[in-house]
Amino acid sequence: MKTQIKSISAESLAEAKEIIDNGGVVAIPTETVYGLGGNAFDDEAVQKIFQVKGRPNDNPLIAHVHEGYDLSKIIDYDPPYAKKLREAFLPGPLTLVYPSTGKVSPYVSCGLNTLAVRIPSHEGAQAFLREVDIPIVAPSANLSKHVSPTSAQHVKEDFDGKIPLILDGGMCEGGIESTVCDVTGEIPVILRPGLITREMIADMVGACGEYTPDFQAKEKVKSPGVLYKHYSPRCQTALYTVAQIEWAQRACAHSIADGKRVAVLAENDMLPYFKGENITLLNLGKTEREMASNLYELLREAEKVADVLIAIEPTKQEGVMVGVLNRLRKACLSVDIAH
Ligand code: TXA
Ligand code: MG
Repeated sequence: MKTQIKSISAESLAEAKEIIDNGGVVAIPTETVYGLGGNAFDDEAVQKIFQVKGRPNDNPLIAHVHEGYDLSKIIDYDPPYAKKLREAFLPGPLTLVYPSTGKVSPYVSCGLNTLAVRIPSHEGAQAFLREVDIPIVAPSANLSKHVSPTSAQHVKEDFDGKIPLILDGGMCEGGIESTVCDVTGEIPVILRPGLITREMIADMVGACGEYTPDFQAKEKVKSPGVLYKHYSPRCQTALYTVAQIEWAQRACAHSIADGKRVAVLAENDMLPYFKGENITLLNLGKTEREMASNLYELLREAEKVADVLIAIEPTKQEGVMVGVLNRLRKACLSVDIAH
């Protein structure tokens, strides 16, 4: 199969719709990362997504709809605080998890009794979702465990020859995936941190919890995706805090002495600690928005230029940085917790 990258136009949208209507998958841009989309009502299309990605079949998918879509077609329970969150933040990088009504394919939620719904703000995503006018399930368009894609080219690196069409909507500005927030209980609970922060949600509706999975617990975890090694570049990785900077410098020196190609990923102000001829410096940036936006691009760069990636945790660890750190830590896990 030939994989085509096409910019968004009436013609490419019509082509995308035809692929979706025939049970195929299409890569689409969003304001966070690119997604691999398929018809949420079509069992085979949903299964195809899992298969193409190599995704574990216990990790549920998010249904994406356009701004004007009638949500009562897929959900019924809708607490007032969820409405408030939609009005405040959607379209945008916030996914809400509702009790499921069994309207979409059972493969979407992988046996959970909930459905995650997202209304992306990216114009190209909205145009595509309006064109198809059905819920589209779309996980990030990367091979399972690999770094999420923030450009059409990234998607091609992972799926060349495996999907027919990538709609090119340029670089994703957000850079990390949407905040996933459970709205089935009394108060919203964040399952995956992102650009819409816990503080922003609490400010809007008075309270917001945060779910931290108990890896030992027998109960079914609420958001299985949080268990996996994820977002990982295909090179050795080591993550240090700023307080461990001397260890990181030593690790660099040792790797270089071993003949390895080394890259250092750090916020702008920490890079001067790693000057050296044999080191590729990957600058995360200064502001939290910059760091979120640059993270995946730089992790993909690291695997191309280095055998060893030494990453330094940014100093600021609140707000949007909770999401950035969550991704960085998982990218640098050396063991896979779930399998
Ligand atoms: O920004 C995003 O959310 C991107 C773009 C493409 O929209 N999509 C994305 O999808 O990140 P994915 O499949 O890579 O991550 C979905 C996350 C996983 O952690 C999954 O476990 C969680 O959302 N999730 C999906 N459905 C859920 C549900 N019913 N209950 C709890 N968590 C759910
Ligand atoms: Mg993903």
